[in-house]
Amino acid sequence: MKILVIGSGGREHALIWKIKQSPKVKEIFCAPGNGGIGEDALCVDIAADDIAGLLHFAKEKRIDLTIVGPEAPLVAGIVDEFRKEGLKIFGPSQAAAKLEGSKAFAKEFMHRHGIPTAEFQVFTEPRKARHVFRVVPESDYPLVIKADGLAAGKGVVICKNFSQLDAALSDMMEKKIFKEAGSSVVVEDGLSGEEVSIIAISDGRDFVLLAPSQDHKRIFDNDEGPNTGGMGAYSPVPGVGNELLERISEKIIRPTIEGMAREGAVFVGVLYAGLMLTEDGPKVLEYNVRFGDPETQVILPRLKDDLLELMLAAIDGKLKGRTLQVSDQSAVCVVLAAGGYPGPYENGKEISGLAEAGRLPQTKVFHAGTRRSDGKMLTAGGRVLGVTAWGGTLADAVKRSYAAVGKISFEKGQYRRDIGAKALKKTGAANR
Ligand code: AMP
Ligand code: GLY
Repeated sequence: MKILVIGSGGREHALIWKIKQSPKVKEIFCAPGNGGIGEDALCVDIAADDIAGLLHFAKEKRIDLTIVGPEAPLVAGIVDEFRKEGLKIFGPSQAAAKLEGSKAFAKEFMHRHGIPTAEFQVFTEPRKARHVFRVVPESDYPLVIKADGLAAGKGVVICKNFSQLDAALSDMMEKKIFKEAGSSVVVEDGLSGEEVSIIAISDGRDFVLLAPSQDHKRIFDNDEGPNTGGMGAYSPVPGVGNELLERISEKIIRPTIEGMAREGAVFVGVLYAGLMLTEDGPKVLEYNVRFGDPETQVILPRLKDDLLELMLAAIDGKLKGRTLQVSDQSAVCVVLAAGGYPGPYENGKEISGLAEAGRLPQTKVFHAGTRRSDGKMLTAGGRVLGVTAWGGTLADAVKRSYAAVGKISFEKGQYRRDIGAKALKKTGAANR
């Protein structure tokens, strides 16, 4: 088969690396891809949100299956456009992608279907929100404010008091720092607990759960500093065993898929539920309608099944009775980012040590913001690399991953030293 993968991050590199292992694959293209993806697929210079350009390319090259990495083209309706032209594509329709495209829709959907999530209110006028929250006692904080639309993972502010909420309302709704995404906002109760990413592949009626993983959202060690797209991940997650997964399946994933079908927006593709494991059980923080990044980088090395075949089965509505084979190994991904990220950063720094890191066993360096130029690999984004390794235990995977990180360098590079550390502590395993 001829495959087109849309996107340019570590997630897309991991998808390509995994799909390439399928005997069904003849050729893989990636639009637009990155420096490292170029070693595993043929990169074509079409932006991930250029739906017309992608459609034209898929037709011209007679692509058998298109796989969409990021949310923006899904929310913009790429799946509907491809299907209209009779092209096979893996991902949810525009109507189904609203679960990620509108946080207000997602919250109201969860409310309609009894899916556990934080109590919330939706506002379209800052004046009304101020009126409500000015009188809320400080003991009811933290409250969390979320821009309704897509904001590249930055549209969430956790507020400790009214003045922080007031400032966030002003940024989102009046200064429009996220443009139209902030025209309406969700304000919800702050939840506490461990976070876990649960990723399912759905055929619209049935689904399979991929291995649970945990992301590290903050930029600095010990979960300090601002939120990022994700600075590292590991899988499996201690404490998230079969019993809890079964509960998450039945109370969250199944009602979501059935609810969407009942509302006429059949959900085919990847359903990612970002959960908080609270004292009252798991609650949904957010839905995404695509693979997580960097979660994908640790989930796929553990998946023994043919991912391409799973995607085709999902499109054909054939996931009923399906179970997955997942290795007992642990996997860890440490993200190397440009200095300054998630704020402004410089591009074009030469990366050294990739070949040495790549020669280490049970290790794969997935590229995100990289670009090849004159035989050199240069940085070209905030998150630059996802250094991934797997081993018999989480401690082993952590050790391998950081050994590979130690081989790689570029000017002003930064990474967290504590990916997986909290989980290691919990399981009593010796720290690195
Ligand atoms: P989201 O994009 O909605 O997943 O939010 C990004 C991050 O903000 C989450 O991964 C959590 O760390 C945090 N967050 C979101 N909603 C809440 C909440 N209700 N309570 C506490 N933290 C939250
Ligand atoms: N790692 C979080 C996300 O993919 O949204």
